[in-house]
Amino acid sequence: MYFFSSSCTMNSFAVILIIGLVSSRIASQVVGSSFNVLDYGATGDGSTDDSQAFLNAWKDACSSAAGSPLLIIPQNLKFLVHPITFSGPCNSEKINFAIMGTILAPASPSIWGDGDPSQWLAFQDVTGLNIYGSGTIDGQGKVWWDQSCRDHPGLEGCKGLAPTALKLISCNEGSLSNIMFSNSPQSHVLIYGCNDFRVDSVAIQSPEDSPNTDGIHIQSSHQLSITNSKISTGDDCVSIGDYTSNVEINFLSCGPGHGISIGSLGKSGNEVQVENIHVSNAFLYGTTNGARIKTWQAGKGYVRNVIFENLILHTVNNPIIIDQHYCDDPGACQETGSGVQISDVTFRNIYGTSGTDVTVNLNCSKVVPCKDIHLQFVQLAAAQPGNLATASCNNAYGQEFIVVPGPCLI
Ligand SMILES: *[C@@H]1O[C@H](CO)[C@@H](O)[C@H](O)[C@H]1NC(C)=O
Repeated sequence: MYFFSSSCTMNSFAVILIIGLVSSRIASQVVGSSFNVLDYGATGDGSTDDSQAFLNAWKDACSSAAGSPLLIIPQNLKFLVHPITFSGPCNSEKINFAIMGTILAPASPSIWGDGDPSQWLAFQDVTGLNIYGSGTIDGQGKVWWDQSCRDHPGLEGCKGLAPTALKLISCNEGSLSNIMFSNSPQSHVLIYGCNDFRVDSVAIQSPEDSPNTDGIHIQSSHQLSITNSKISTGDDCVSIGDYTSNVEINFLSCGPGHGISIGSLGKSGNEVQVENIHVSNAFLYGTTNGARIKTWQAGKGYVRNVIFENLILHTVNNPIIIDQHYCDDPGACQETGSGVQISDVTFRNIYGTSGTDVTVNLNCSKVVPCKDIHLQFVQLAAAQPGNLATASCNNAYGQEFIVVPGPCLI
């Protein structure tokens, strides 16, 4: 090369430059195909129905085979969106859904018409889906709460079912991060039938008295994590349902709310399979429960290998609770010959105050007692000055080490 004339060197330099430009253009197409809902006619005015624009943008993003297409919901705008499902499978291995603005639910239940009242925004069968952004998903749930059968049992036409703000169904190898959720009509996020999914740095906020507004509900899913998140709501901050395994919850703030719950499980007499659940580094304040496992007597199967550790509780009503007689349906509360086997459950490094005097309540079934329960380094005092904290255990076998109040296990 040193022997070429200067003009020849220039030529080859130019060729290399052109090749470089062409390949970077291809690369930018591969990495950066983006689909902004505004280009599909969305108004972002907060009152026009922008659903069709969202669906059209999704259709193009999902059929794009290039790299990881990006759907953009821009900031500083409010998009009113009716119940919609973003369906896969998509053509790319990954697909990004950036919510920078606000997505608003219709303020009137009549918009749902004959459609499924349990659903507002849903993603189904999308692999490699990453939902993120500094935006908000606002469920405008108040109109639903005001008609909820749970809160207004006598109300004519009361609603037993209300929409979940975001349903993620069969979403493998994906993530949900940084989004803020507020005022969902019912649960905020449902993760159903997903393997290998991460939730990180989300905020969920609804009033303490809003009915059935679980933060994140997980069911029939495996390999999930929920990290660095803050949940304030009217029901469970996180609830873990049947057929779930390998869940990691780390750095969670919960309150107000009903705490972190495994269950209720086995309601329909089904074969429960829940295992390898690890909750660590959680702060719970003013919640009705701390670490809870609840099963119906009709259930079968197991809950095993569960660890709750490093929890700080502030005025939590039932700090540590296992209830194998869970029942919120008066017709189905009799003793039965079955039960879900609960075993290998560790409560470790749990400190703080209880809103009630019973700080540890392990109420297991006579038929299928709890076994291999471990209580280690638990210190819970009654929040009410002068009250004495107590522990109550029924049919709970295991070992305890430095537990106040205690002892309790058999
Ligand atoms: C245990 O469960 C039984 C059956 O539901 C209930 O009657 C009892 O009050 C519970 N005990 C405690 C200490 O919560």
